[in-house]
Amino acid sequence: MRRRGSAHLCRSALLLLALAALARAQGSGSPEPVPSLPGGTAAGSPPPGAAGPPLGLPSDATALPEEGAQPPAPAAFSPTPAGGTQLPPAPPSGFGLAPGIGAPAGKLAGEQRLAYQGTATVAYSQTPISPYQAVSLGCGLGYISPTFQSDYVGVSPDIFHDAAACGRCLRIQCDDASCANPGKQMPALVVDLCGSCTGLDMSVSFPLFVNLTGRDPGPNPSIVMSWDLIPCGNLTVGTIKMLLKKGGQAFYQAFGFSNSAVPIVGVAVNGTRLQHGSDNYWQWNPGSPIDPLAPLDIALAGSSRQVLRVRLPSLRSADLGVQFKS
Ligand SMILES: *[C@@H]1O[C@H](CO)[C@@H](O)[C@H](O)[C@H]1NC(C)=O
Ligand SMILES: *[C@@H]1O[C@H](CO)[C@@H](O)[C@H](O)[C@H]1NC(C)=O
Ligand SMILES: *[C@@H]1O[C@H](CO)[C@@H](O)[C@H](O)[C@H]1NC(C)=O
Repeated sequence: MRRRGSAHLCRSALLLLALAALARAQGSGSPEPVPSLPGGTAAGSPPPGAAGPPLGLPSDATALPEEGAQPPAPAAFSPTPAGGTQLPPAPPSGFGLAPGIGAPAGKLAGEQRLAYQGTATVAYSQTPISPYQAVSLGCGLGYISPTFQSDYVGVSPDIFHDAAACGRCLRIQCDDASCANPGKQMPALVVDLCGSCTGLDMSVSFPLFVNLTGRDPGPNPSIVMSWDLIPCGNLTVGTIKMLLKKGGQAFYQAFGFSNSAVPIVGVAVNGTRLQHGSDNYWQWNPGSPIDPLAPLDIALAGSSRQVLRVRLPSLRSADLGVQFKS
């Protein structure tokens, strides 16, 4: 009982630490650079990327090959899930742990664990998903790199933080006595909100669980693990995709961005800053009717302070054809 209580205290303290790290501005002195997350964005509050690069200044155009050059029209992008399958939701968090399962492996001393410590429970499809199947999950990511089709996670509401965690990369370490190789680490992409997870716990994809633990989930689908944030960097393959949210109107549209190598901290369309919603879409309320056939100038600010600019010929989902340097 006492152990359990102190473990809970410890977890709360770690959760606070994790949240602090997640919310911390850039330039932390930690060995793994933790890029700043855009904070929660309640509707009506100023966009969290306000501290990011000024999107309106012409001087911060860096992505396009030549100043004033017209980028090629991006290819149409249609993220309809193959076969239209819906992924099963994350499982409820109540699970019984068999003896020896769910206990930290003895040979992993405290300092060998990663910064944030919790429980991972297997969820989602048994097989790798298609690049478009994560669109139905909490982050609405229209595309995920092949590198993450087996390795993706859903995080607790605290870590999800109004979708600020979406598209971020983690490494997860198996610290469980049931793991074939305690200490084994694997990268993963945050694609979902795990509503039944608390604190630093998460739901993890089936192939990730099997690979990390070296065992089938069977009746013991949860493990003790630890994790931290890593740069997505070259784990992200290809260019950024933009998904137009369904249900847009003359005065309101919203855009989802996926497959970015660095966190996107600000978005502007035709010079108007968008607001990041808890559904991970960036909302555009220009205050005048939107002509769906008119071109759009999109500016994306990365946490690296690089700004990407793309002109779309009209209002539609598109592969933007650009990527942040990482
Ligand atoms: C397990 O993960 C490692 C590291 O990410 C990867 O190289 C390997 O292909 C994976 N194996 C399977 C069977 O998914
Ligand atoms: C990713 O980048 C690192 C250097 O930062 C390089 O060593 C590694 O080979 C790259 N991996 C891939 C898959 O390109
Ligand atoms: C966006 O700005 C361009 C000029 O830069 C203009 O031609 C276009 O009509 C605008 N698009 C919308 C949807 O307002």
